[in-house]
Amino acid sequence: MDTVFPRMREWPRGAVERHAGMMSGSLRVGSGRRSGQRFDARHGVVTEALIFLGELDPEHIGDALADATHYEPTPLAQFDELLRALPIAHDEYTFVDIGAGMGRVLLLASTKPFKHIVGVEVSPALCQTARDNVTKWRESRPDAHCKDVRVVCKDAASFRFPNGNLVFYLYNPFGESTMRRLVYRIAQECSGSVFLVYHTPVHRDVVDENRCFTPLVDLGFGRVYEKKAAT
Ligand SMILES: C[S@@+](CC[C@H](N)C(=O)[O-])C[C@H]1O[C@@H](n2cnc3c(N)ncnc32)[C@H](O)[C@@H]1O
Repeated sequence: MDTVFPRMREWPRGAVERHAGMMSGSLRVGSGRRSGQRFDARHGVVTEALIFLGELDPEHIGDALADATHYEPTPLAQFDELLRALPIAHDEYTFVDIGAGMGRVLLLASTKPFKHIVGVEVSPALCQTARDNVTKWRESRPDAHCKDVRVVCKDAASFRFPNGNLVFYLYNPFGESTMRRLVYRIAQECSGSVFLVYHTPVHRDVVDENRCFTPLVDLGFGRVYEKKAAT
């Protein structure tokens, strides 16, 4: 956490506002950001921020930096909508947030009875914040259904997928080449039932082109795809 905040304070005045909205429009500047700040205050966590990896810990990220987007959390209401669109029995699935950032989505997903929840994040500083947030969340929400929430510090391109049925969540974490590699690997390596939830689907063509994935829901700001289990 200490590694994140000094740099955030150093940002020029207005930098956050100038960049806010790059992903989800005016929502971030207005009610989306305010409800994120209220969420953080209520649960004693830190998730509402806009952080560029090149200004945080670029020396620890390596080649993935070139294709990585910045950190920005999913607006709370939009995550709810996307989760509601999933036609699953949660306890039969592991939830995987690809590019977990400060872990907001991991916390929210734990209110459902997923089998396991895993966040994969390439920035060590963001991983540390996400782990701190998971610890604080456990104190704030002891009633959360899924207790097995983990954060893995890794480039998603080389992350080894868990076995079984999976829900992959992506909030536009990277550019086309990493997206292409990831989608190809999911298609090749995951034999269980898979749902891919893609918020701000900038590279949706990559998924649409892959015949393993069927589009299920299009909410405009995000899409849900299904890949059936191998028979
Ligand atoms: C837009 S943020 C989304 C954060 C979180 N998933 C959420 O929705 O609240 C995208 C995240 O992807 C991470 N990221 C970018 N490239 C990555 C990679 N190759 N492997 C793992 N994480 C990556 C960034 O560091 C950033 O935290």
